[in-house]
Amino acid sequence: MTDVADRAAAGFEREFGGSPAGRWAAPGRVNLIGEHTDYNDGFVLPFALPLRTVAAAQPQAGPRWTVWSELSGETIDFGADEVAEPGRVTDWGAYVAGVVWALREAGHDVPGARLAIASDVPLGAGLSSSAALEAAVLTALVDLGGLDLPAERQPRLAQRAENAYVGAPTGIMDQSAAIRCRDGHALFLDCRTEEVEHIPFDLHAAGLAMLVVDSRAPHRHADGEYAARRRSCEAAAERLGVRALRDVGVDQLDAALARLDDPETRRRARHVVTEDQRVLDTVALLRAGRTREIGPLLTASHVSMRDDFEITVPEIDTAVEAALGAGALGARMTGGGFGGCVLALVGADAADAVADAVTTAYADKGFQAPTHVTVLPAAGAARLD
Ligand code: GLA
Repeated sequence: MTDVADRAAAGFEREFGGSPAGRWAAPGRVNLIGEHTDYNDGFVLPFALPLRTVAAAQPQAGPRWTVWSELSGETIDFGADEVAEPGRVTDWGAYVAGVVWALREAGHDVPGARLAIASDVPLGAGLSSSAALEAAVLTALVDLGGLDLPAERQPRLAQRAENAYVGAPTGIMDQSAAIRCRDGHALFLDCRTEEVEHIPFDLHAAGLAMLVVDSRAPHRHADGEYAARRRSCEAAAERLGVRALRDVGVDQLDAALARLDDPETRRRARHVVTEDQRVLDTVALLRAGRTREIGPLLTASHVSMRDDFEITVPEIDTAVEAALGAGALGARMTGGGFGGCVLALVGADAADAVADAVTTAYADKGFQAPTHVTVLPAAGAARLD
């Protein structure tokens, strides 16, 4: 297949005639560690994938947005009325209209535009194709309109598009990764202050590789379960009298758990509090250049998601166990859960053997064959030309 940026430009020319004023790319992400901590004001450590969504764009007169998507093959068109209230533009168009809506809500004079969108980020694999779409459109509109919205303020706006216009109650991790990541680095993000530190994550130098296995598990009730986890965490924070679970340190965990009556709420809180600490421990090891040693933290994160947060599914657990059995240094589900991808940290020459072991374990259990790819940390959203 031709390059995604070329496909966006070719789509633009075919649909709208002429060349676009520019092209803007934003990546999908994996989260190295720190799951379901973002909406608890905690810490996350995602990195951007070399898979990108590209928007080729050109201003057009009036408050009017015309958008072609390679994936759906459709062109949609909406004006100020349709973006005035959530729900009028639906399906994939909601992510685009949501960005326009959130910009206008924040008082920006959003330029009308024609946009052609192509993407290499697979949908439904838990790699944040939606945040990549939001970020590509947002950066395009910010540049085309010369809007005063620096990169560090863009994730909150894209998250608002997703929360309030699309209606998904996500945290700020995915949009931050799509916008703020740097090539060769993981993004250490404090989700309360939105401060970031770019942590060098040089897998090559450490003789390592990162295998991403798409579990191909269908997302079962993921939206409802995500919202339920969020509610449990908020209930725990309220009961403990803290603003968010981020305010409970691991040294206070036992005392905090003793104050939570409901066993399920206790498990949810324990995951979040210990996961925040695992992010801090992972960052400390990476800062010290001890990359190989993060493996056990990844695996502990998985166990916590499986047993305490209860967001894994049999395909995912099978992939993690098979990867570890074949010599992975650590493995965990990444993303919101109930399907999606597994990360396995492996020796540079072990990626194929680990992937084969996962494929075999899947076949033994009669699961649909998984797919896999090895990845290196890539850059966040950028104007291409
Ligand atoms: C999804 C959400 C994120 C985050 C993760 C879990 O990807 O969009 O905000 O909560 O799940 O870590």
